Amino acid sequence: MTKFNIAIDGPAGAGKSTVARMVAGELGFIYVDTGAMYRAVTWKALQDGIDPGDAPGVTRTASAMQISLVPGKDGQQVFVNGQDVSVPIRSKTVTDHVSQIAAIPEVRELLVNLQKQMAASKGVVMDGRDIGTHVLPDAEVKVYLTASVRKRAERRFEEVRGAGAVTTLDDMERDIARRDRLDEGREASPLVQAKDAILLDSTNMTVPEVVEYILELGRSRT
Ligand code: C5P
Repeated sequence: MTKFNIAIDGPAGAGKSTVARMVAGELGFIYVDTGAMYRAVTWKALQDGIDPGDAPGVTRTASAMQISLVPGKDGQQVFVNGQDVSVPIRSKTVTDHVSQIAAIPEVRELLVNLQKQMAASKGVVMDGRDIGTHVLPDAEVKVYLTASVRKRAERRFEEVRGAGAVTTLDDMERDIARRDRLDEGREASPLVQAKDAILLDSTNMTVPEVVEYILELGRSRT
């Protein structure tokens, strides 16, 4: 089959990573979770004692570190300078600061260049906030995946509860709404649906339904 690229954007908790990973698995494509890359920079900056508000400091950290994404049996593993940070990049502290760090234009430029390189040979399913608009504007399939804030909070709540985290559904909903505001309101590459992206509201859809819908877009792409 000819390789092509799929861009999946949307707000926090819309199910992008689950769906993108499954679509990539079905097609034998590479899955790239760009949120994990912003999380890796955030983790490293905090680890090094850099204030997330110190844009030049965070940018220095980002340009000096090596991020690798490796497909693993439980999804994608993330390494920073050879250290597996797949679990710590999902911590509450990292989640609390990631949108602030993702708003730094120089950090975005560094990561977007890396992401473009990863997709250069095609056969990539990439999820994030600016993939269809900035990273892969020529992606053959573009989807903007969303769901109601409550539904997204419920899904994330189940996920983190399974992992043993202590939070309430209302806190989760507040956190998701806060990240939506930051991601949609920032100057540099705000979260917005690309003009040529297909809008998919998954509030009342199951994961397999969403996956099948995207696979069908791939089959019928022009
Ligand atoms: O997808 P995930 O929730 O892990 O992303 C974490 C954060 O990284 C998002 O809330 C957003 O601030 C940022 N991000 C971004 N651009 C992307 C992917 C993620 O700004 N392409």
